[in-house]
Amino acid sequence: MVICENVDRKIIPIASGKGGVGKTVLAANLALALADGGRKTIAVDLDLGGSNLHTCLGIKNINPGVGNLLADKSLRFKDLLLRTRYHNLMFVPGDVLVPGLSEIIHVQRKRIVKQLLSIDADYLILDLGSGTSDAVLDFFLVSNCGILVTTPQPTAVTNAYGFFKNLVFRFLRRALSGNKKVSEYLISLGSERAPQSSPTVPQILSRLNKIDKGKAQAAQDYLSMLHPKLVINFSHSPDDTDAGLKIRDLCKKNLNIDMECIGLIGHNGAVDKSVADRVPLLRFEPDSVAALQIGRIAGRILSEPGFPLCTSEASFGKKSFDLVREESHQDFLNKSKADMPDVNDLMQVIEGQKRQIDDLRGTVRILTLRNM
Ligand SMILES: Nc1ncnc2c1ncn2[C@@H]1O[C@H](COP(=O)(O)OP(=O)(O)O)[C@@H](O)[C@H]1O
Ligand SMILES: [Mg+2]
Repeated sequence: MVICENVDRKIIPIASGKGGVGKTVLAANLALALADGGRKTIAVDLDLGGSNLHTCLGIKNINPGVGNLLADKSLRFKDLLLRTRYHNLMFVPGDVLVPGLSEIIHVQRKRIVKQLLSIDADYLILDLGSGTSDAVLDFFLVSNCGILVTTPQPTAVTNAYGFFKNLVFRFLRRALSGNKKVSEYLISLGSERAPQSSPTVPQILSRLNKIDKGKAQAAQDYLSMLHPKLVINFSHSPDDTDAGLKIRDLCKKNLNIDMECIGLIGHNGAVDKSVADRVPLLRFEPDSVAALQIGRIAGRILSEPGFPLCTSEASFGKKSFDLVREESHQDFLNKSKADMPDVNDLMQVIEGQKRQIDDLRGTVRILTLRNM
């Protein structure tokens, strides 16, 4: 796992527990915003079996991608790099030309990760598939600063927590695979029959402590390296940050992982139109609230050289949710103001209506006199 706070090159995987929550839209536009910020950025389509990042970037589906890398051993990742029409932004397609790769095996995942790590850029944005397949979890664990996208809906919140639960168990199993007894214990957890009986991470750590004190400490240390970030999409209210807080609190209590919120994106009709037009939202409607909100997420990443560590107190832990709620509150107020007609326009409408009423009155009077 790349610990992103220690390196200039940041790898930011984007995942979700539930499908259709806006990962690809965020991946395309966040990558563009980082490129606009003057950083060499590469957007990589790693949604094998469902690649469509090229659509959001307005690129035709005719170029070899990650799928070809698996099919042709002579290919290297750098052979797949495509220039986009946007300055500083490059793109690596997924597997649209090589179907049947949704269930890739361990060696194939390792090959992709190895190649990925050899690429030079300031930011690598990885658009992942939905859910908790081994491939998605392994790609998310390529670095410690992945973004999980959720909507405020209860089903998405449940799936977001489920994602982190699966992630932590996979992470611990991989990180502690050297000790047979520890491995056997962790594997036995996966075969628990009753879901409600599955132990929390604090319970697992106290059991590990009895098997191997050093490994228990290592597990704790590994978990503290994870700094996942949350983005709430399809929001209709600043209170939607409560859904994120629910995920955060559950993760803290049951999984021993801390997370911050780095942004909320409102439900916005311009997003669908931009996808239909195959132009990233940041270019299609740069003044839309959603574009500003995505730009703000990029700004947060660019302004923290130690990202995913947050130097600002307000961006850390629970406070990050308060900050995002406050920003979103402002966005909603600004949007309502923008939706309200201008006072001068209103006065003109009222004057016009007054004139129409006077005309009508005159007509009624004439008709009444004629009929007398
Ligand atoms: N903030 C938003 N407002 C309105 N529509 C959105 C928003 N974010 C995403 N969408 C729409 O939702 C659909 C799914 O988005 P996508 O990024 O493909 O999801 P995922 O990659 O998670 O499956 C797309 O049609 C997109 O236009
Ligand atoms: Mg997608």
